[in-house]
Amino acid sequence: MSTSVKKPKTVYVCAECGADTLRWMGKCPGCGAWNTLEEQQRRADIAKIASRSVERSSRPRPIDEVEADDAARRSTTLAELDRVLGGGAVVGGVVLVGGDPGIGKSTLLMQALAGLCTGKVRGLYASGEESAAQVAMRARRLGVAASNVLVQATTELEEVEAAIASERPTVVVVDSVQTLRSGSLDSVAGSVTQIRAVASRLIEVAKRDGLALFLIGHVTKEGTLAGPKVLEHLVDTVLTFEGDPSGAFRLIRAEKNRFGAAHEVGVFEMLEDGLREVPDPSSLFLQERLDRAAGSVVLSTAEGTRPLLVEVQALVAPAVYGAARRVSTGLDGRRLAILLAVLDRKADIHVLDQDVFASVAGGARVDERALDLALAIAVVSSLRERPVSSGLVAFGEIGLAGEVRAVPRAAVRLGEAAKLGFTRAILPASNVAGINGDAPDGIELIAVKTLDDALREAFD
Ligand code: TYD
Ligand code: MG
Repeated sequence: MSTSVKKPKTVYVCAECGADTLRWMGKCPGCGAWNTLEEQQRRADIAKIASRSVERSSRPRPIDEVEADDAARRSTTLAELDRVLGGGAVVGGVVLVGGDPGIGKSTLLMQALAGLCTGKVRGLYASGEESAAQVAMRARRLGVAASNVLVQATTELEEVEAAIASERPTVVVVDSVQTLRSGSLDSVAGSVTQIRAVASRLIEVAKRDGLALFLIGHVTKEGTLAGPKVLEHLVDTVLTFEGDPSGAFRLIRAEKNRFGAAHEVGVFEMLEDGLREVPDPSSLFLQERLDRAAGSVVLSTAEGTRPLLVEVQALVAPAVYGAARRVSTGLDGRRLAILLAVLDRKADIHVLDQDVFASVAGGARVDERALDLALAIAVVSSLRERPVSSGLVAFGEIGLAGEVRAVPRAAVRLGEAAKLGFTRAILPASNVAGINGDAPDGIELIAVKTLDDALREAFD
């Protein structure tokens, strides 16, 4: 016999972190913030709605009869963005686009929206950030103002819903999810409660009506999709738009993609009249590299399907006050700290009393372990004031025992390096064993098993 427990009608949700409790408390049990719990009606499980498939039929079918890519796609006409999306925008798919203020999210989405709206396809750009005039001004500047792109300046969720119902757009951009609020809730726009409610409602509409929906979200100083972070599991795709705002390059990266490969990277350049695609970014990321500068090593990355060459830089200087500083840009600072410890303990390179600054040049960011080898060599190069040879690239993971470990897609990385004229590659021995005859011409493979080997090869 089962006893049915009736679910309470209300829950209390923290406006800061989204944690919920069944009774009101002064202090949030999730994040410890005071007075942030807000009463909320229990809604149908939001995640359930979000994960509802694009396809409405729930009848079980033999798996080999289901079309694997039955997602209808449309091109944004920006090939770099299409590739990151997994081959274009998906009808019924929801994409969250995050990035720092001023990085170019509104520009990118306006260009994409215009590209998607060809023929009879209509698009809606709902802006809570800017007036209709500002949005229109940008569209003119981008040269994409057209009658099938509708602009709506509003901060009311219900108005956006009404516009979707009456205008029947196929593509909808919401700029931004933090500026919309639902009149059915008391909390202010931008609170976690509102963000969740707004997004889940729009996602429901997108799934029901088969819209391609793009939600723009701001990122906070900590670099997370604050607020929008709570949306990551609700949407199909999470893209981040990043880059050094003072430079021209912008990278769009898929952090999560139900419709394509994650970690795919697309590159754009911000110009006077909008974002221009950079189909061959490797040469661009290396163009300002000094020939034979100490502390600089070229890394061949392959986080998505496309390889990319980037310059990894390190600067090592004796620490002046107390604890040595480690500062990193475009790479994980914890990884740097680990590598410095491995250099000290396993390769007898003493850097623990040195300040170490490390960065990926040009505003790129590298999150993969293949960075290790290039970074370690760059640190030693700076420490010794000895440049590596200019035709050298490196990639490989370094383990805590100082061993060099295989990374995925070695042949692709080597191909890109050879294409750009690099002549020597230091890479994990286990990768060389796996490549067999597939190595590209014109590049010498230097297989290494340990960090020691790698340093010897780099500086011999
Ligand atoms: P924007 O798309 O408004 O950024 P976000 O929506 O992420 O806040 O664009 C920000 C910057 O881009 C702005 O400082 C001006 C610059 N920009 C250009 O350089 N060229 C252009 O064609 C446009 C539209 C903007
Ligand atoms: Mg904007």
